[in-house]
Amino acid sequence: LNNIAVLTSGGDAPGMNAAVRAVVRTGIYHQLNVYGIMYGYRGMLKNEIFPMESKSVANIIQRGGTILKTARCREFYEYEGRKMAYENLKKHNIDGLVVIGGDGSFNGAQKFSQEFDIPCIGLPGTIDKDIAGTDSTIGFDTAVNTAVEAIDKIRDTADAHDRLFVIEVMGRDAGYIALHSGISTGAEHILMPERKTEVNDIIEELQANERRRKLVNLIVVAEGDETGGAQEVGRIIKERCPQLDTRVSILGHIQRGGAPTCTDRILASRLGYAAVDALLEGIHNVMIGVVNDRIHYTPLDKAVKAKQEIDPEWFKIVKILAS
Ligand code: F6P
Repeated sequence: LNNIAVLTSGGDAPGMNAAVRAVVRTGIYHQLNVYGIMYGYRGMLKNEIFPMESKSVANIIQRGGTILKTARCREFYEYEGRKMAYENLKKHNIDGLVVIGGDGSFNGAQKFSQEFDIPCIGLPGTIDKDIAGTDSTIGFDTAVNTAVEAIDKIRDTADAHDRLFVIEVMGRDAGYIALHSGISTGAEHILMPERKTEVNDIIEELQANERRRKLVNLIVVAEGDETGGAQEVGRIIKERCPQLDTRVSILGHIQRGGAPTCTDRILASRLGYAAVDALLEGIHNVMIGVVNDRIHYTPLDKAVKAKQEIDPEWFKIVKILAS
């Protein structure tokens, strides 16, 4: 192993920079040449590949976004695109690739590593925490903390006006951001794709709450919940409970930005270091995660989107604590 490259792909996530930094500095420590690839697979196709030095990653551990930029790349789905990307890597004699991204990015890396002789390592970077083979993903903790901060602020104004707020958080098809942010802000209800919620039950509870003059209610909805998102939940509540003062708030992309939390910086640093270590050890074509506080390898083809079981006890806790 002499020359490795690193890229970020798919949706950005806070902590990606910390991971890039760890890959670059660990690579240099082991006397490897480290290359950065701009805009994910698109940059591989367009030969936007440049040598990095220790200084290239100075002052980025605390920054959100990704200095390597990111993109979704259609051409990489096709063999011809992947071949062109391979030829560009060969121009730089790259013999190891670290891909920081989500399951879609690993899918690309898996195909690529099968077709060409470039070992690939995947690192899970997504705010959604929807990947098998790791307890968390780079960016999840930061996104949850951002959501918590925003929901706390919403609670202030909800309390001042005796209002009900329906708040939508991100997560694509997964409800972890909703579950974690909802529990830690004391939400009355959490709607998420992993568990069906009957809106009728919510309406009944809201009416019971109203009878006992409990007027401040927070409902956190994961964007992927099958009810149809916060707008739809808010619409139903307004229709069925017109006496309640209901507002809808969609938190949106603020959840993707900002300085990574300590937890995400540590995860990213650990995984970036482990990625180079794995390449040096000859461990190839795996995603590296952390399971029970230990480094865990998952073959790239098994590093897929995962809907984990949510312990039903959590919903009991939500109900009891918000009563
Ligand atoms: O995967 C991260 C994520 O932020 C999801 O939570 C969300 O559904 C999606 O990306 C939004 O994608 P875009 O930034 O392309 O609108």
